[in-house]
Amino acid sequence: MAEVRAAREDDVPSIVGICTRAYAATYPQILPAGYLDRMIAEFYTSEQVAKRIAPAPPDWLGYQVAEQDGRVLGTAAGGLTAPGVGELFVIYLEPSERGQGLGSLLLDRITEQIRELGATEMWVAAVVGNELALPFYEARGFTRAGKRRAAGSREEENAWSWLLHRPI
Ligand SMILES: CC(C)(COP(=O)(O)OP(=O)(O)OC[C@H]1O[C@@H](n2cnc3c(N)ncnc32)[C@H](O)[C@@H]1OP(=O)(O)O)[C@@H](O)C(=O)NCCC(=O)NCCS
Repeated sequence: MAEVRAAREDDVPSIVGICTRAYAATYPQILPAGYLDRMIAEFYTSEQVAKRIAPAPPDWLGYQVAEQDGRVLGTAAGGLTAPGVGELFVIYLEPSERGQGLGSLLLDRITEQIRELGATEMWVAAVVGNELALPFYEARGFTRAGKRRAAGSREEENAWSWLLHRPI
C-alpha cells in the first residue's frame, strides 16, 4: 500500500533519480536536448532539490513523495500562485511505476495542500505532445485552457506547454 508524505532531507537522492529518469523517459522526443539539460541543471541536481525540500508557503509547499514498501517511487510539489489559485509544479514517477494510481495519490495530496490554503482552482502546465501527462490530467478533470511558452524555453527552441485548469 503506497503512502504519500512530506519529503525529508534523506529523500534527495531518490527525488533526483526519479526526476532524471522520468525526464529521460518522457521528453527526448518532444524537447531539444539543450533545453532538457538546462532544466535538469536548474531544478534536479542534489543541491537544487535539497533547497526545495522544505515548504515556503504559500508559494511552494515542499516536495511530497509516494513511498511503497520502503521505496520512494514518485514525487510532486505545488503551491499558490495568487490568492485562491493553486498550481501543481512538479509530478514525476519512476517510469516503471506509471499507471498504478501513484500519480493520482500525489495529485490528491497537492490538491489537499492547496485547498487548505484557500485555493478554489488548480492549474498545471504540460509540454505540448506529452502524452504521458495530458491524458492523466484530463482523466482527473483538468481541461486545456491555452498554451504558453514552456518555462525556461529560449525563443529559438520554441517549446510550448498546455495550461490545464480545474476547479477544486
Ligand atoms: C503523469 C503521471 C504522474 C501520472 O501518474 P500515474 O500513476 O501513471 O497515473 P494514474 O495511474 O494515477 O492514472 C490516473 C488516470 O489517468 C489515466 N492515465 C494516466 N496516464 C495515462 C496515459 N499515458 N494515457 C492515457 N491515460 C492515462 C489512467 O488511465 C487513469 O484513468 P482512470 O481514472 O480512468 O483509470 C505519470 O504517468 C508520469 O510520471 N508520467 C511521466 C512524467 C510526466 O509527464 N509528468 C508530468 C509532467 S507535466
